[in-house]
Amino acid sequence: MPGEGQKQLSEDTQAAEYDRAPDLPNDKDAELKKRANAVVPGGMFGHVQTRTLQPGYPQFFSRSSGSRVWDVDGNEYIDFMCSWGPITLGYNHPEVEAAASAQRAQQGIGAGPTPLLVELAERLIDLIPQADWVVFGKNGCDATTTAVTVARAGTGKKKILKAKGSYHGAIPWCSPNPHGVTPEDQAHIIEIEYNDVASLRAGAALAGADLAGIILTPHRHDTRRDQEAVLPEFAQAARDICDRNGAVLIHDEVRTGFRVSLNGSWEVLGIRPDLVAYSKAIANGHSLAALTGIDALRDAAASVTITGTFWYDAPPMAASLKTIELLEAMDGPAVMAEKGQRLLNGLAEQAARYGVNASLTGPPQMPYLRFNSDDPARTADVWCAEALRRGALFHPFHNWFVSTAHTNSDIDRALEATDAAFALVSREAVLLG
Ligand SMILES: Cc1ncc(COP(=O)(O)O)c(C=O)c1O
Repeated sequence: MPGEGQKQLSEDTQAAEYDRAPDLPNDKDAELKKRANAVVPGGMFGHVQTRTLQPGYPQFFSRSSGSRVWDVDGNEYIDFMCSWGPITLGYNHPEVEAAASAQRAQQGIGAGPTPLLVELAERLIDLIPQADWVVFGKNGCDATTTAVTVARAGTGKKKILKAKGSYHGAIPWCSPNPHGVTPEDQAHIIEIEYNDVASLRAGAALAGADLAGIILTPHRHDTRRDQEAVLPEFAQAARDICDRNGAVLIHDEVRTGFRVSLNGSWEVLGIRPDLVAYSKAIANGHSLAALTGIDALRDAAASVTITGTFWYDAPPMAASLKTIELLEAMDGPAVMAEKGQRLLNGLAEQAARYGVNASLTGPPQMPYLRFNSDDPARTADVWCAEALRRGALFHPFHNWFVSTAHTNSDIDRALEATDAAFALVSREAVLLG
């Protein structure tokens, strides 16, 4: 559904045109980018900056509703990024927003937390078999960093094993970016290979008696590579190593929690972590994080400083209670899986039909497409820009997200866009490498 003025790609598109794809009306976006360049270092910070994408990719958006987003120039897209994970029920979900607004009218932050803090903690403990206690924060990084701190406080040890390429936040102990990070910041972090039991054991051996914990995402979802389900023997080895060494198994469910599973991604394996970090999808777009833990770490959690000025804000807690109620009532993860599978099936059929060698991986609630061309990054850029031009927003090197608000007709319309994108990359395969 290209918006008014959006162009259809002509059949004879030449490689040179890729440099100005996606070629949508973008005067307002271009002007804002220019102004941002003057007042924001680098023009934009963080994962939402578009300077690594095709020129012309919209950076500024003005509206979102259900499965749709509109950029500042009025171009409408079926959105498969869900704000990079928080949106499970669709943007601006009326019941979630009503719950948050009603609470905001009473109290946001105040002299102290509202009763909702206790109510939400109780709700999470009922829902998540691993959880005996809960503390709250705002962003995923609050929860992962608090988890590592609690693990160290609870064990009196320092070393943390983490998987290479796994993202746990933009903070020195785990930042993937070396700028401004000292070797001392990561001196007690030992990197291992995800799903490699030998590497995990070697990391544990290196940590020796100083192993405080292992932090893992429930499956591998690093950028720019195929997603991988966790190997049961790897999951079991992580649990066993922690048990043998008195160390803490930490799950980072920031991206997967309340999307892939409501009660813990490894419940199906019968393996429970000791601490679990949640954020993103816990409140359908409202800023909230939670760390859940087992009884044995309760005193450790009480002993460390866990705080932030806005960490007790009540409206996101109201939004979270409503989000969890709705996700549970409809079995949100199953609904998202069904929508995602429809998308994955369509993409697989198109890739095969156009003879494009591509990998489709991940749980269907958060699919990822990677091209097996000579230049996968460029092929993905061109594919995404073409889909975008035709009204479907995907990302070239980060997994996507599906929400319960995506209708079958949304998926089918998005597949019309991706059909054209596959046609383009198959036609231009030689130019794209
Ligand atoms: C798996 C995972 N952990 C932690 C984080 C950090 O969360 P935040 O950006 O909310 O601090 C992210 C963010 O993308 C993530 O995907």
